[in-house]
Amino acid sequence: MTPIPADSSSYANVDAFVATHLVLDLTANFDNRTLAGTVELHLQRRDPAATDLVLDTRDLTILNAEAAIGSGDWMATAFRLDPPTPAFGSALHVTMPPSADRARIAYTSSPGARGLQWLTPAQTAGGMQPFLFTQAQAIQARSFIPLQDLPGVRVTYDATIRTPKELVAVMAAEMTPGPPGSGAYAFKMPQPIPSYLIALAVGDLTFKALSSRTGVWAEPSTMDAAAREFEDTEQMVAATEALYGPYRWGRYDLLVLPPSFPFGGMENPRLTFATPTVIAGDKSLVSLVAHELAHSWSGNLVTNATWPDFWLNEGFTTYLERRIVEAVYGKARADMEAMIGVTDLAQSRATLTLPRDRTLLPDLTGRDPDEAYSSVPYEQGALFLRFLEDKYGRAEFDTFLRKWFDTHAFQSATTDSFLAFLNAELMDKKPGIVTGDQVREWLRSETVPAFAIIPTSDAFTNVEGERDAWLGGGPIPTLESASKSWTAQEWIHFVDTLPRTLTPAQMRALDRQFGLTRSGNSEIAHVWYRLAIATHYEPAYATMEAYMVRIGRRKLVLPLYRDLAATSSGKAMAQRIFAKARDGYHPLTRGSVEEVVK
Ligand code: BES
Ligand code: ZN
Repeated sequence: MTPIPADSSSYANVDAFVATHLVLDLTANFDNRTLAGTVELHLQRRDPAATDLVLDTRDLTILNAEAAIGSGDWMATAFRLDPPTPAFGSALHVTMPPSADRARIAYTSSPGARGLQWLTPAQTAGGMQPFLFTQAQAIQARSFIPLQDLPGVRVTYDATIRTPKELVAVMAAEMTPGPPGSGAYAFKMPQPIPSYLIALAVGDLTFKALSSRTGVWAEPSTMDAAAREFEDTEQMVAATEALYGPYRWGRYDLLVLPPSFPFGGMENPRLTFATPTVIAGDKSLVSLVAHELAHSWSGNLVTNATWPDFWLNEGFTTYLERRIVEAVYGKARADMEAMIGVTDLAQSRATLTLPRDRTLLPDLTGRDPDEAYSSVPYEQGALFLRFLEDKYGRAEFDTFLRKWFDTHAFQSATTDSFLAFLNAELMDKKPGIVTGDQVREWLRSETVPAFAIIPTSDAFTNVEGERDAWLGGGPIPTLESASKSWTAQEWIHFVDTLPRTLTPAQMRALDRQFGLTRSGNSEIAHVWYRLAIATHYEPAYATMEAYMVRIGRRKLVLPLYRDLAATSSGKAMAQRIFAKARDGYHPLTRGSVEEVVK
């Protein structure tokens, strides 16, 4: 039995008991905003003498606990909750009689559960039915299921979800299609997964197939646009399989959530959860699908052993994402996106106060991993892999990565285990190409190493030329002719690299020419609003405010609040907007924005 790596974000006593399977029976109560029911945990005993099972919970009400030996009768047993800590919630202690290896807990979540968002009908696309979705990563599963909430433990599960009859439940699992309108849905997750990948959504949902193994779940009014936007999904799956081996999860579907979804996407197995803000109408933001799909290898198959190893999930995934985009949409697009990533990395790093958070190895002791969330693990991690690809050559590096996924499939990986694999498979076999010091610098440096291979893009060079000609006093029509054919990535680069000293007249000229304030592309609008705040371009403010109230995706709104809060009049405006937006935000977005505007 391999020991579970020590994890400071969980109270679970995994040296005594390790969960292997869950049985969930839960009811979604929209009236009082609770998920209520039972979870049965099948446990592997690692300490025969242990009598205390410790589980993670946050804001749960525990109704009763039972224990059993195998499939024997359930026996009532004692339980108690420790006082909560703000970072990790409350440890739940369940008394386990000798030989007991199953526990069943009846519980209910709290209306403010951090891992759930309950939406009113008005907050959905259709406006007629309420909606519920979960977001378990990193440590929020414990706010809707008492369990061992750490990525070093993997479980299979069976679930029954009971809903109001007019709603549909979906889980990131195999779905057994029951009679529609029955109000009870059955799910099965046959592959062992970490707790952060348990996911559920309930709403007015329909399904449309994109290929025999891919499809979209969405509210009816969003379906057509979503299915068109994501029509290349099968091509992406096929491209990833060609690079890294078979897709091992059966189906790959997408679920389009309401705009309050706090992330761009979440790689829930078989069913990526996605923000509707990537539906731009021109597929310009579908690298999000490439990213979440890539997690089916880097993350869901080979999982960060603990949250400080997060870069193994996100750095690898960001690298894979760009390889998929290159295969499906070409190298020019992939390189532009990689360059935008380098810009993001620098901007994101500048907001971090703890030096170690600027490296690939943050210290998360005593902290909710969400506190250290930034672009660093994504982009520094991806640049590290791009560097290795450049040094060893693409063919060699592809073989290496594929072997990493194959040999670590359905296991968790530590940074040290990756370094050992890198040494054995590349560095020792081809000595003199990459040094140990370079590897250490990738992991520990607060900046991009000087020897990094930074992507370049002819398209961006052209954009910069147009930009500089205009800034140098050239006519704006120059810009217009070039910009007729600009892609979203070129627009993002153009706006994001304009000087923060533009005059209102210059801003007006750009806006008149290109309608940036009205952009329907959420990423272009985002960089434009940031520029508008920096240059006090007030004609953009009303539209920006509407955007900040409508959208709850943290990456798109938090920087706007941060920028506003930098001046005292801006801070007042940020507080006013937040007062309006607050109730519609997910608990995670709400918490992060609160920190900035308080
Ligand atoms: N797994 C992440 C989202 C996440 C990370 C949620 C940590 C909670 C804690 C997901 O794969 C992701 O990275 N999403 C990105 C999109 C991507 C295209 C960079 C996002 O949400 O912005
Ligand atoms: Zn990711």
